[in-house]
Amino acid sequence: MLTGDRPTGPLHIGHYVGSLRRRVELQNAGTFDRIFIFEADAQALTDNVDNPDKVRQNVIEVALDYLSVGLDPDKSTLFIQSQIPELCELSFYFMNMVTVSRLQRNPTVKTEIQMRGFSGESIPVGFFTYPISQAADITLFKATTVPVGEDQEPMLEQCREIVRRFNNIYGPTLVEPDILLPDNAACLRLPGTDGKAKMSKSLGNCIYLKDSADEVEKKVKSMFTDPDHLRINDPGKVEGNTVFTYLDAFCRPEHFPRYLPDYPNLDELKAHYRRGGLGDMKVKKFLAAVLQETLEPIRIRRAELEKDIPAVIEILRRGTEVAREAGAQTMSEVRRAMRIDYFEDQTFTAEQAAKFQQ
Ligand code: TRP
Repeated sequence: MLTGDRPTGPLHIGHYVGSLRRRVELQNAGTFDRIFIFEADAQALTDNVDNPDKVRQNVIEVALDYLSVGLDPDKSTLFIQSQIPELCELSFYFMNMVTVSRLQRNPTVKTEIQMRGFSGESIPVGFFTYPISQAADITLFKATTVPVGEDQEPMLEQCREIVRRFNNIYGPTLVEPDILLPDNAACLRLPGTDGKAKMSKSLGNCIYLKDSADEVEKKVKSMFTDPDHLRINDPGKVEGNTVFTYLDAFCRPEHFPRYLPDYPNLDELKAHYRRGGLGDMKVKKFLAAVLQETLEPIRIRRAELEKDIPAVIEILRRGTEVAREAGAQTMSEVRRAMRIDYFEDQTFTAEQAAKFQQ
């Protein structure tokens, strides 16, 4: 299993329900031989070229988020993308297998080009080709399973195409990965606290894993609900109501006896809200309690980790070493398949010598 995140800011609860929580479960279930989790700092630089310090500052933030949610360096290899030169090497060969028009059709690239206001030919080549480098991220480690959000689906599809093309030309060498999407619809894309489509730092609508209890409380209190639910007795809408979306993502049955014993489960709470007579404040208080229960242990671990940053850096350094070894192994197989393993292949020396001895 392999996945990664761009270190452009601390991770938020959207990352948590969309991916981090599942990674920890998979790690602890021991389903996978090996787990690679990395910080895609080189990919982050594809659209932060003039802001290298932003990436540098967030490498440790994200590592702290990883470790505090329960990723365990003894079970998962945590590493930094830019420190694996084999990724560049593999990307370079993958570039021969993808056309410009195929990249232009990648829906993620398309929307990101629009979002960032690049027009026509003014797109930086590195940014435009990042799906290729992402295919290298995945295949260099022979990942079979890539847990990511649905927005990454086009990246995975493009990766699978590259693998098929490569294996077709050079013989079976690389592994076609499967995407592993979040299992709960509310977790696919957690909206921001303002009800906007996605949590994003620039919109200021995130709840971060590192937020204090007070900050979480405040953010929940000011959350977007149903704008037509003006009086308590008005019937309310649950769909598109951010508070309920978050409950769908975070709430478990045991939370009710603990924090809201008047209701047996989330369905009953929703039914009451729909009928009218249930105030936003009561639901928000419940959500705040549920979030605090989830986030408190994460905050406590983070505070411990922050006391020894050199140890965190050492974890990344060791993980990166392990990842490099795995990557070097795949690259040597790739070079053999591509017939460019001149110095490793004894028959090459013999065959070339013979050819010129005639
Ligand atoms: N594109 C991913 C994101 O923005 C990060 C990423 C880079 C990634 N390479 C990857 C995710 C390989 C999974 C596998 O979140």
